Order: sequence, then structure tokens, then C-alpha cells
Amino acid sequence: RFNENKTKEDPSNFDANLLNQQSNHIPQQFVWPDHEKPTDDVQPLQVPLIDLAGFLSGDSVLVSEATRLVSEASKKHGFFLVTNHGIDETLLSRAYLFMDSFFKAPACEKQKAQRTWGQSSGYASSFVERFSSKLPWKETLSFKFSPVEKCHSQTVKDFVSEKMGYGYEELGKVYQEYAEAMNILSLKIMELLGMSLGIERRHFREFFEDNESILRLNYYPQCKQPDLALGTGPHCDPTSLTILHQDQVGGLQVFVDNKWQSIPPNPKAVVVNIGDTFMALTNGRYKSCLHRAVVNSESERKSFAFFLCPKGDKVLKPPEELAGVISEREYPDFTWSMFLEFTQEHYRADMNTLEEFS
Ligand code: SIN
Ligand code: FE2
Repeated sequence: RFNENKTKEDPSNFDANLLNQQSNHIPQQFVWPDHEKPTDDVQPLQVPLIDLAGFLSGDSVLVSEATRLVSEASKKHGFFLVTNHGIDETLLSRAYLFMDSFFKAPACEKQKAQRTWGQSSGYASSFVERFSSKLPWKETLSFKFSPVEKCHSQTVKDFVSEKMGYGYEELGKVYQEYAEAMNILSLKIMELLGMSLGIERRHFREFFEDNESILRLNYYPQCKQPDLALGTGPHCDPTSLTILHQDQVGGLQVFVDNKWQSIPPNPKAVVVNIGDTFMALTNGRYKSCLHRAVVNSESERKSFAFFLCPKGDKVLKPPEELAGVISEREYPDFTWSMFLEFTQEHYRADMNTLEEFS
């Protein structure tokens, strides 16, 4: 649909709510090639449930159980669930509530927060890439986040008040608080990962204390032809660690043992997965795995992804215990900024990767 007030040549003349169209047929740009279309024979993946409070209690039985399970899952596919994660229930339900207040607003309202090329913060919807194919059936709102004092201008609250303004103050506060809670949780998980690798507990925690991360809200509208579309196309997260909270609808799938397998929702748990840069930091011991999200015709779906990323200019290299001599190194030294630039160059033709992280 066109926005009647604008001319056809203007790139912003498309209605951002392409996804909310009434027709029984989805637009062609959202139809994926046959070999990538979702199938309905998907079984749940075996992922361990890690009791974080048990690990933090210091009880030796609980600590060794948690580190053993994390190590096993991370060597195989890099996905595990974390329970007793300490994220406040009220904060979580408010975070879901405020998603409606943003994504259900008129397109022109959402576009005030539009994410532009090369920026991490802002609103994105597939109408931006309307001429390409394999578009994801979703809208997102992303916020750059850093826990470091001097980066305060880049925090969630500031972005919301600058770009979205009046009426969104509470939303800004809630997502600021959510990102802060995720930052704390991600550093605890870094301690767990360090111990599971047999290195000093504080090693990765300290490495990520000045992280420059991203909080992304994923909103997947109902889709009339879910067997033709994908909410998020197949990709590996280039970031270090992803902490995903998904609602009870379900849709996350991981490619393991040569087939797509699902990670069904668990109201008590967050899904944690290893990203490419953490894989490099472990010298390839822990895996970053291909995953995607499917949509459905029954209901919309919501998820929150906190992407833990290293500070942009920090050199990424595994600790000595994991790669003693240079010949044992799987990857050269690099920085997160270099990696992002490379990813954008290398995958210029791959819209999934571009859409996710450019
Ligand atoms: C993603 O991997 O980017 C999204 C996953 C999800 O929404 O389940
Ligand atoms: Fe992902």
C-alpha cells in the first residue's frame, strides 16, 4: 500500500505496515525459496536447563553440574536455557506490555525512531528493503546500550527521549532497566562460561564489563501464509552472547545434526546462545550455531534479544589456556568493529545478515 500523501518516487512512500495487510496472500518479497521454507516436522532440540542461582550459590555439586551442562551444550551447538536468572517478573511483564504501545502505533509514529544504515538504535521494518527478496516477517526496535558511565549519551532512555519524545517516557525507563538487568545477567553467565572452560572465573566477566551491546525488540505479526515466510531468516549471531526472552507462542529453531529443531518457550527460562565473537574467544571450542524464527497464522509473537558485544576497539584473542602458541590459533586477532565491517562487506548480498546487524 502507498501512503497517499507522497509521490511514488519517494523511498519513504510505502506504508510501514506492509506486514499488516489484509489480503490472504503475502507480498512476493516475503516468500522464501522452497529449500528455505519452514517445514512442520520440526522436533524440540535437547537443550539443558541451567540453574543460575545454584551456580552462584557456590555449592560445589550445583557448580559442577552447571559448568558440565554448559560445556556440553556449548561444544555441540551453543544453545542452553537459564532458569533462576533473577530477572524481575514485573519488569518482564512491563517490557512485553510496552511492546504493544510501540508496535501497534501508526506507522508514521514508529518512523520517528527509524533506524538508518550503519546505526544500531531505532525502528526497522521490511518496507525499507521493499525491492529485495526473502524479507523477514517482523518489525524490530533496537537500542544501543553500554553500562559504562561515559557512554551515557547512548543509553536506551536518551534515545527514546530524543527520537520518540512525548508519551514514551515510561517505555524508555522500562527498556533502560531491562537492558541494565540483561547486562548484569550476561556478566554472570560470562563467569559460568569461564569456569566451564576451566579458566579463571573473572576472565570473561572482566573482558565484557565495558561492553557496547544491543537490546532488540522483535515483533512478529500474525502471518496468513506462515509456511511461505520466515520471521527471522537463518543466521549465526556475530555478537558474543545472546540472551533471548521469548513469549509463549514459540518460533525459534536451531539447525543441529543437519536438521531444524525447535526451542519451545519456557516461561521460567531465558535462551542463551554463543555468538561468533565468543566462539573466536574460546578458540573455536564453543560453537555459534545457525538459527531462525518461524511465524504463525494464529497469533503474533514477541521476543527480546540482548546481544552482548565487546567494546568496539578491544582486541579479541583467546586466553592462553585455550590457545597457548600462535600455531594453535583458529582465528587471528581482531576487533568487534573490524568484524562488523568485514561482515557488511562480505555479506553484502546476504540480506539476512545485513538486516540483522547493519
Ligand atoms: C533472532 O535470532 O534474531 C531472533 C530469534 C527469535 O525471535 O526467536
Ligand atoms: Fe539470532
